[in-house]
Amino acid sequence: MAKPVSIEVWNPNGKYRVISTKPMPGTRWINLLTQQDCRVEICTLTKTILSVEDIIALIGDKCDGVIGQLTEDWGETLFSALSKAGGTAFSNMAVGYNNVDVNAANKYGVAVGNTPGVLTETTAELAASLSVSAARRIVEADEFMRAGLYDGWLPHLFVGNLLKGQTVGVIGAGRIGSAYARMMIEGFKMNLIYYDLYQATRLEKFVTAYGQFLKANGEQPVTWKRASSMDEVLQQADVISLHPILDKTTYHLINKERLSKMKKEAILVNCSRGPVVDETALVEHLKQNPMFRVGLDVFEEEPYMKPGLADMKNAIVVPHIASASKWTREGMATLAALNVLGKIKGYPVWSDPNRVEPFLNENAPPPAASPSIVNAKSLSLPVSKM
Ligand SMILES: NC(=O)c1ccc[n+]([C@@H]2O[C@H](COP(=O)([O-])OP(=O)(O)OC[C@H]3O[C@@H](n4cnc5c(N)ncnc54)[C@H](O)[C@@H]3O)[C@@H](O)[C@H]2O)c1
Repeated sequence: MAKPVSIEVWNPNGKYRVISTKPMPGTRWINLLTQQDCRVEICTLTKTILSVEDIIALIGDKCDGVIGQLTEDWGETLFSALSKAGGTAFSNMAVGYNNVDVNAANKYGVAVGNTPGVLTETTAELAASLSVSAARRIVEADEFMRAGLYDGWLPHLFVGNLLKGQTVGVIGAGRIGSAYARMMIEGFKMNLIYYDLYQATRLEKFVTAYGQFLKANGEQPVTWKRASSMDEVLQQADVISLHPILDKTTYHLINKERLSKMKKEAILVNCSRGPVVDETALVEHLKQNPMFRVGLDVFEEEPYMKPGLADMKNAIVVPHIASASKWTREGMATLAALNVLGKIKGYPVWSDPNRVEPFLNENAPPPAASPSIVNAKSLSLPVSKM
């Protein structure tokens, strides 16, 4: 076995060698693995992003499974190295897996796990927070206050946008997009316009029912509209939040031309993936339109920002923390560990990756299944009957 870099070892005599490329929150994920005869090795290198070479060194000559991170490049080289070391399981500690070449994993017969079901509300809450912070210029006002510049109330001081009765636009109304839409509709009584390749029936039903409830209580009902094109959302919405997956069809979905279609005082939020937005075009748009505001959790070339972005007062930037609640991060670690464990043990794949509560219940052993394997079909893995 190649001498690994800097690692912490749990249950050294475990039969199956499972590596986590990063320390992950909580200890339940470690206990679940060690109780099932796994030797768990956690890379403790202080370097934030591990290179392919670092991970090859970690995998060594014998490795049954790896839990990795979205910052790592899981392609042909790593899946080949894992397979050569006898490994059959990999899980991203993330719901998105645009850093994983699933075809390469299929070629080497490696199962690829992800962690849906625990990030939805937490990520949507950050998108909602960025929307409100941008609308009410909270970060700018905080900086002003700390700089000692506040010398009394003024009618024009940090005037922003009222959300109530305005239109919220959602692009990609899947799990997170729909949860975000509900928060903005319930919380601020905004009307909805959305664009997705598929109809968000449950979301539509919710807005209809909520509108009826408001009307019955003598309030203005909220409305919804499924846009036939993305441009319709860009033109009509006051706040637009991006929640599609990142793939070839969504790369630079928001570019110079599309930015120009948005209202001059609109707010754009991105908690999906950085390359969904052409960040250079965005910086230029922010310069030209001082009342246009953005809230960004993700960046085109993380960890960097495109030149000029950090200087823009009309941009709020946070370091990819949308899923960073304790409950979510511990849940992600648990699901990633169970994805790997399930494959190693030959368990079936859970039938509904969105219904993961049984795996998160700390008072009962988790089901004998992998919670979410994205290439289960390609690898013809059995599906749990539960
Ligand atoms: N910032 C973060 O920390 C963070 C956290 C969680 C998820 N994410 C990102 O959010 C993404 C969405 O997560 P989810 O759980 O809601 O996924 P999801 O699969 O439930 O939803 C994605 C939606 O996007 C739609 N879509 C795909 N291509 C589209 C297109 N070209 N135009 C419009 N809509 C399109 C899909 O039909 C689907 O409804 C993830 O893939 C991930 O990249 C980021």
